Amino acid sequence: MFFSDIFLVVSLLTFLRDFHVSSCDPNCTDKPEFTPTSLVVKYGDPTSASCSVCQHACLGDGTIYNVESPVGNSAKNGTTISWTIDRLTEWQTSPMCYYTSNTGYQCCSILPVTVYQPPDSVSISFVNHTVPMSEGHQYTLQCTVKDVAPVEKLVVMFYRGQTALGQPQSNNNIEKKPVTESFSLNITPSKDDDGGQYWCEAKLELGPDGPQRPPVVMSENITATVYYKPQLKSSHSNITVAEGNSLQLNCSTVGNPSPMYTWTSPIRSYPNGSVLTIDSVTSEDKGQYTCSVSNRMGTVTVTFNVDVKVSYLGLIIGVIAAVAVLVVICVISGYSFFYKSSRIRTI
Ligand SMILES: *[C@@H]1O[C@H](CO)[C@@H](O)[C@H](O)[C@H]1NC(C)=O
Ligand SMILES: *[C@@H]1O[C@H](CO)[C@@H](O)[C@H](O)[C@H]1NC(C)=O
Ligand SMILES: *[C@@H]1O[C@H](CO)[C@@H](O)[C@H](O)[C@H]1NC(C)=O
Ligand SMILES: *[C@@H]1O[C@H](CO)[C@@H](O)[C@H](O)[C@H]1NC(C)=O
Ligand SMILES: *[C@@H]1O[C@H](CO)[C@@H](O)[C@H](O)[C@H]1NC(C)=O
Ligand SMILES: *[C@@H]1O[C@H](CO)[C@@H](O)[C@H](O)[C@H]1NC(C)=O
Ligand SMILES: *[C@@H]1O[C@H](CO)[C@@H](O)[C@H](O)[C@H]1NC(C)=O
Repeated sequence: MFFSDIFLVVSLLTFLRDFHVSSCDPNCTDKPEFTPTSLVVKYGDPTSASCSVCQHACLGDGTIYNVESPVGNSAKNGTTISWTIDRLTEWQTSPMCYYTSNTGYQCCSILPVTVYQPPDSVSISFVNHTVPMSEGHQYTLQCTVKDVAPVEKLVVMFYRGQTALGQPQSNNNIEKKPVTESFSLNITPSKDDDGGQYWCEAKLELGPDGPQRPPVVMSENITATVYYKPQLKSSHSNITVAEGNSLQLNCSTVGNPSPMYTWTSPIRSYPNGSVLTIDSVTSEDKGQYTCSVSNRMGTVTVTFNVDVKVSYLGLIIGVIAAVAVLVVICVISGYSFFYKSSRIRTI
């Protein structure tokens, strides 16, 4: 009996308190004023505010006024009520400052309190992990932010190196307690992204009442490997080389994975490698050489048309030398003939 009576009283009090809140007229005259007008508090930190009631003499005999809150302590000094708490460990709290005049007129204000908690951790990964990536294909990056509150104020940004890539849409979650959320961004890497560092950042944007430096947590880096086809500037090249000179045909190029080189020519076969070298060119080396560069992403070819210039200087020297030899032979044979005949004559 006694206990149930107490229960009844408690229920009644709870009802009355709720009644206060629900009947709080936002447009009442001479509203109580909180200073500051709103609070942004890190979970577990101390905080305080004060409320001033009846600044324009609303206070008559029997007027009741106070700050009502399930947590913290309130203390009155005249018509100012201070509300303090050593450790705020409620995710949702909204102290109410009110007065009720002896005629039953009620007026109140509510102090908005944002309780925040920076993320425990932020991590980045690829959805359906496929590393290395292939140029031109689409992949999905995912940023997972663990235990952050309030998720409403969370802003996530993806980066490659120092370049901001995009801000994924947040999903209108109004949960006040810490939650773990994943955000994703689609990327289509190009060859220039090979070796790039992808990361994401989670920031709580708490507004001007929040901490001076908004809480920011960055993920680790993930290094992207992007496979791409060998790159060639031109597919044809005309080369003229003088007979006897050396010739180098270079088709070395970039590609990932590193490309393989194969040379084909109707003249003869050549070893694999990015550079084909002929130490001393002869007229037989004239013709077409095709370099085929390939990796698993594709094959490109480059054709060299080699023209060999016959060296006329060599030809002239050759002719002069031949003529000189001929002259010497003639002179020697002529002399020996003369000598022989003169000896015959002498004998
Ligand atoms: C309070 O006043 C505003 C505009 O001044 C009005 O839109 C609102 O409906 C009023 N609220 C109540 C409960 O009277
Ligand atoms: C009450 O406020 C007055 C001035 O606003 C101040 O001088 C006084 O010390 C305060 N009293 C207490 C108990 O805090
Ligand atoms: C990832 O792969 C799983 C099964 O392999 C599939 O169910 C899921 O839809 C994929 N997710 C995305 C984002 O492609
Ligand atoms: C990630 O890489 C960037 C350079 O691209 C560097 O500035 C940053 O410090 C790196 N972050 C971590 C967590 O290693
Ligand atoms: C190479 O020579 C051929 C004719 O022999 C010509 O049609 C072609 O345009 C030349 N290519 C280059 C790149 O000079
Ligand atoms: C071939 O060309 C590449 C760049 O085009 C260059 O780095 C390399 O040194 C060249 N090789 C030779 C043997 O000339
Ligand atoms: C040259 O490359 C071709 C194809 O890439 C390969 O089949 C061949 O064995 C290679 N030859 C040498 C000598 O490396």
